[in-house]
Amino acid sequence: MTALLVLNNLAKRLPGDPQRWLFRDASLNIAPTDFVAIMGESGVGKSTLLNIIAGLDRPDAGHMTFQGQALDTLDDDARTLLRRRHMGFVFQAFHLIPQLTVEENIALPWRLNALPRREMQQRVNLLAKRLGISGHLAAWPRELSGGEMQRVAVARAVVHRPSLILADEPTGSLDAESAKTVLSLLREAGEEEGAAVLLVTHSVTAAGWAQRRLRFDAQGFRSL
Ligand SMILES: Nc1ncnc2c1ncn2[C@@H]1O[C@H](COP(=O)(O)OP(=O)(O)O)[C@@H](O)[C@H]1O
Ligand SMILES: [Mg+2]
Repeated sequence: MTALLVLNNLAKRLPGDPQRWLFRDASLNIAPTDFVAIMGESGVGKSTLLNIIAGLDRPDAGHMTFQGQALDTLDDDARTLLRRRHMGFVFQAFHLIPQLTVEENIALPWRLNALPRREMQQRVNLLAKRLGISGHLAAWPRELSGGEMQRVAVARAVVHRPSLILADEPTGSLDAESAKTVLSLLREAGEEEGAAVLLVTHSVTAAGWAQRRLRFDAQGFRSL
């Protein structure tokens, strides 16, 4: 199967100390529908790596292709469009938009991609119901608990049926039951909608939901 995402010897210097490398030689092949868990110590650069994959940050060395296209050759506008349409990102700090309601936050990728309006409400309602946040659709992000914000962030990352979901510790603020709901939703996105999932997690239980588990450190990836 053709790879969805290929990372070839990606490297990043330490933002505060450019003489030193944060990580080097990060190489990875992600097939469509792969569900990969990435584990590693705090500060090794997992969030930085997801940002690089999403085009929110740039590597200092190495190459990446997504859907067969070399990402290094795209300018910022092209990267933004690619990310908007084909990627979903659950940020570690959620990054909900404070001026939008929960419902508007979830629907944002749908609107930005100008997907059919008549299906939007149904899709948002379905995800909110699955994630147990239906009662909060009219609320503002600041009115939510951390666990509720995290589930809104998950709904927003999957609403537009991206081909790659980048989930940065998406169960870190959740109790066991909600974590299970989020992980089964991510797994379904792969099985039913053909998405690949990159799950960064500290939880061995969460990593157990993935098809394969990798350890990430300054030397790149190793299979677990
Ligand atoms: N914008 C930044 N400026 C300075 N240092 C940063 C910045 N972003 C990340 N770092 C540093 O880079 C390292 C990797 O961070 P991060 O990618 O968040 O790691 P992880 O997600 O694995 O915990 C850490 O040492 C962090 O302090
Ligand atoms: Mg992180």
